[in-house]
Amino acid sequence: MDLKEMLAHRRAIRVYDKTKHIDTERVADCLRLAQLAPTSSNMQLWECYHITDTKTLEALHRACLQQTSVTTAQELVVFVVRPDYVKRRATANLTFQEQNIREHFPKEKQEKYLKQWDMYYKKAIPFLYGRFFGLLGLLRKGLTQIASPFRPVPRQLSEADGDVILHKSCALVAETFMLAMSEIGYDTCPLEGFDSWRVKRALHLPFSAQISMIVSCGIRDEATELGERFRIPFEEQYFRI
Ligand SMILES: Cc1cc2nc3c(=O)[nH]c(=O)nc-3n(C[C@H](O)[C@H](O)[C@H](O)COP(=O)(O)O)c2cc1C
Repeated sequence: MDLKEMLAHRRAIRVYDKTKHIDTERVADCLRLAQLAPTSSNMQLWECYHITDTKTLEALHRACLQQTSVTTAQELVVFVVRPDYVKRRATANLTFQEQNIREHFPKEKQEKYLKQWDMYYKKAIPFLYGRFFGLLGLLRKGLTQIASPFRPVPRQLSEADGDVILHKSCALVAETFMLAMSEIGYDTCPLEGFDSWRVKRALHLPFSAQISMIVSCGIRDEATELGERFRIPFEEQYFRI
């Protein structure tokens, strides 16, 4: 399939054919491809739970409000964001970049690049991603407000804005996964209709984890009509400046 065909094939499937099976390893391969999606500052503050176990699937049916897209699915993927992994991911990025620079950059430029990455992942990222009951977000906003009359400043700095940043990146991962699934003829449906507290309990996730999206997986039931796809006229959403 080329990209156009993949995009046409991907539909939000509400009823799967229970007689047609998907291969768990191929679904895992699509999740490996989804890792290639971009994330803000390459922080990759997401993880996914590929649910194939019957008992957990049943617990998730209830948590997903018995939507047929979930009850008829063969497998589920729960995409989770982890604001609590900031330090871990910043260290991983820095460790990688240190080696990357030493192996791939000219000797005379190495020190400069190493310093830049060090500043970014040891100072800027902890400042931008730090959380403490909303107070660090307020501090960030306050500091940038002082500078804002004199120069452009980033304004999405509250801790709630931080959640948006994490879920935005995670949504790109989920979309990449769904397109990879389409490419091999597998179907999906993205969902946010779930009880996040129950989902977290079923997966034994900590309080700090946030459920971003659940994607159900299977092969569509051809007997259930999908109908035409509705999209707003392009002119209403496209502005060339
Ligand atoms: C973030 C998000 C949440 C969604 N949640 C649900 C859901 O809980 N249940 C559902 O049946 N469909 C859900 N959908 C699917 C949309 O309704 C669907 O993508 C939309 O109607 C467009 O149809 P298409 O995907 O076939 O083009 C969701 C889609 C997105 C992107």
